[in-house]
Amino acid sequence: MSQTHFGFKTVDEQDKARHVRSVFDSVASNYDIMNDLMSAGLHRLWKAYTIQVANPRPGDRVLDIAGGTGDLDLAFAPKVAPNGQVVHTDINEAMLREGRNRLLNHGHVLPTLVCDAEKLPFPAGYFDIVTVAFGLRNMTHKEVALREMNRVLRPGGKLLVLEFSKVAAPLEKAYDWYSFNILPKLGKWIAKDEDSYRYLAESIRMHPDQETLRGMMREVGFGHVDVHNLTAGIAALHLGIKC
Ligand SMILES: C[S@@+](CC[C@H](N)C(=O)[O-])C[C@H]1O[C@@H](n2cnc3c(N)ncnc32)[C@H](O)[C@@H]1O
Repeated sequence: MSQTHFGFKTVDEQDKARHVRSVFDSVASNYDIMNDLMSAGLHRLWKAYTIQVANPRPGDRVLDIAGGTGDLDLAFAPKVAPNGQVVHTDINEAMLREGRNRLLNHGHVLPTLVCDAEKLPFPAGYFDIVTVAFGLRNMTHKEVALREMNRVLRPGGKLLVLEFSKVAAPLEKAYDWYSFNILPKLGKWIAKDEDSYRYLAESIRMHPDQETLRGMMREVGFGHVDVHNLTAGIAALHLGIKC
């Protein structure tokens, strides 16, 4: 049986999705407040930048994968109106429910769908824009998911992958200290869940760095890939064009 990583642990490939599900089942209700606290609000700037680079137009069809509590969907919805479509998806029902309630509270009724990024239930070439924010890291077969994202995009369509990445060398020590000492404690105090936030820190270290991810995106058919480092590489936005 093949093995993979779940944070720093090695697990059977077939078990990773279950471990990831239990993390997001546990954090769903505190997800938004924890995001603001952990990143001191920076995730909002990174997401706003992602929307700017995506440059959605009225009428565009947008697929948000691993959309969770719906930050990107909320920003996209008014920009593609009145004829466009934003499809809000995630593999985790608890996260999706939080997102759907939030979207409804803001007056947006979007198609909301439980689906696995590795098996997208959409026809080839359907979307103008596909996004995945802080989701790819958790997927078992990242190449399979990236290939699916490429498949559902029209030629010339854009994939935006926003994800934690490899921080610049001078910040590494301080960032490690924060990630392994402060993050799990914040998780313990606010979300009553230390382990999930330790997994977060570990999964970031196990995720492909900027250049490796660029190579993976090229491999599955993105002819052009730009990498935008955000906050000294704490996060990175990869823009892939299907060409
Ligand atoms: C850190 S949250 C990100 C949520 C949201 N995109 C954001 O940026 O705030 C990661 C999400 O990835 C989802 N996820 C993990 N594996 C997935 C998969 N194979 N397919 C779809 N979503 C997945 C989780 O359920 C979780 O909601």
